[in-house]
Amino acid sequence: QATKRDALNHLQREVDRLAESSEPHQEELIRKELNGFTKLFSRFLDEAGPSIDWAKIEKLPPDAIKDYNSLETPSTDVIHQMLNKLVVVKLNGGLGTSMGCHGPKSVITVRNTLTFLDLTVQQIEHLNKTYKVNVPLVLMNSFNTDEDTEKIIRKYRNLQIEIHTFNQSCYPRISRDSLMPVAKSAYIHKNLEAWYPPGHGDFYESFRNSGLLSQFLKNGRECCFISNIDNLGATVDLNILNLMLNPTDKIQHEFIMEVTDKTRADVKGGTLIQYEGKLRLLEIAQVPKERIDEFKSVKTFKYFNTNNLWAKLSAIDRILKEDDLRMEIIINNKSLENGLNVIQLETAVGAAMKSFDFALGINVPRSRFLPVKTTSDLLLVMSNLYNLKNGSLIMSPQRMFMTTPLVKLGSNHFSKVKDFLSRFPNIPDILELDHLTVSGDVTFGRGVSLKGTVIIIANHGDRIDIPAGAILENKIVSGNMRI
Ligand code: UTP
Repeated sequence: QATKRDALNHLQREVDRLAESSEPHQEELIRKELNGFTKLFSRFLDEAGPSIDWAKIEKLPPDAIKDYNSLETPSTDVIHQMLNKLVVVKLNGGLGTSMGCHGPKSVITVRNTLTFLDLTVQQIEHLNKTYKVNVPLVLMNSFNTDEDTEKIIRKYRNLQIEIHTFNQSCYPRISRDSLMPVAKSAYIHKNLEAWYPPGHGDFYESFRNSGLLSQFLKNGRECCFISNIDNLGATVDLNILNLMLNPTDKIQHEFIMEVTDKTRADVKGGTLIQYEGKLRLLEIAQVPKERIDEFKSVKTFKYFNTNNLWAKLSAIDRILKEDDLRMEIIINNKSLENGLNVIQLETAVGAAMKSFDFALGINVPRSRFLPVKTTSDLLLVMSNLYNLKNGSLIMSPQRMFMTTPLVKLGSNHFSKVKDFLSRFPNIPDILELDHLTVSGDVTFGRGVSLKGTVIIIANHGDRIDIPAGAILENKIVSGNMRI
């Protein structure tokens, strides 16, 4: 306890020093954010060890997860009223680093010349026009993404959509050895590496700190739909909104998590569990090593979290006021460019589920989970597998089965968007593709068609150019073979 008190006192002095070093007009906000950080750090010191006791995981009660198909469809006049109570939030604080981008992932071009942001705006504008409503779009940016995002959203000024932005918190990375911040001052842009956005779980506090939560509540908004900006399947679903606002069973669900059936491709995703009488999210980072295989099993844990979440604004307000938001801490270890080992403490937005009353899971169709984490995902969403309709991607009716092909592009030559685009001057026809593996130095000509299972492997030092117009059907191409 004494060591903990010392560590906290020491940290508090460091944090005060950082706050005092900030520009005067920013000091209040920085203090508020750093208070949030100190609270998280204090919990981190308290909670050494696993955040769950595996033996206490209970079987999911039968009514914990509703089937999407059992939901009622609202009538048009109800839709109008409901949309007037809705706020759409997109999590836009992350960078596209895993795809080699330096800016926000949301500005990557996905379809024709349209970016994730453009598609989101089109979706909501369409909703607003169709139902003559004014659903606001809220973007949660971070210090990494706000400048680029603000530049881009200027072009939407004349559209029928109200866009709000706020910045999530900016927390100091701490040295793994001393557990003290590595930042020397709060001039963040002078030392970007010393700071980080603390995961999307930071949404609740930052949203409150921005003043938007109270503003929306004052204006009669009741519910928010939160999702990842890179999930192109996360459109406003009227049946789920109806359940949130007009429940037939009279149970006021304060929080709904959209889950979907887990396949072998999603074994790392967070899952829903019943624990201490409440539903909660279990992330792989919380799982003891010896239980990882069990966690990944698609039989034991059948569903995974799409991160499409619905929450009552009044409940968020209450939980924050009662200081009852205890999201599990995710410890993210990193190495800085100078070799210093640091840790960043993060939280996940879905982990707040257990703080809400009558939280519920809904098992939604896979089409509501269309994320772009890698260039393999990008290939799918750019391809003729989908048609674009009012900002939403709809699977082409020409696809014989509703499953998406399994695509694996090699990490050395394809993982960065720039390399990927230079190797695919246009995206092949994949309407009849089941499985594609590409590895090594491979390029594709225009108008290529891929069908069935196609495997292309260029060995080290070799290069394979797939000529324009080639049709590859159930084919393995390797070495420096000519087609
Ligand atoms: P993830 O961190 O799960 O995915 O964020 P990512 O951004 O694809 O991460 P990489 O590519 O694996 O590094 C999911 C969503 O949450 C947002 C991201 O922008 C993304 O839309 N996010 C993430 C935030 O808004 N803030 C954060 O601190 C972290």
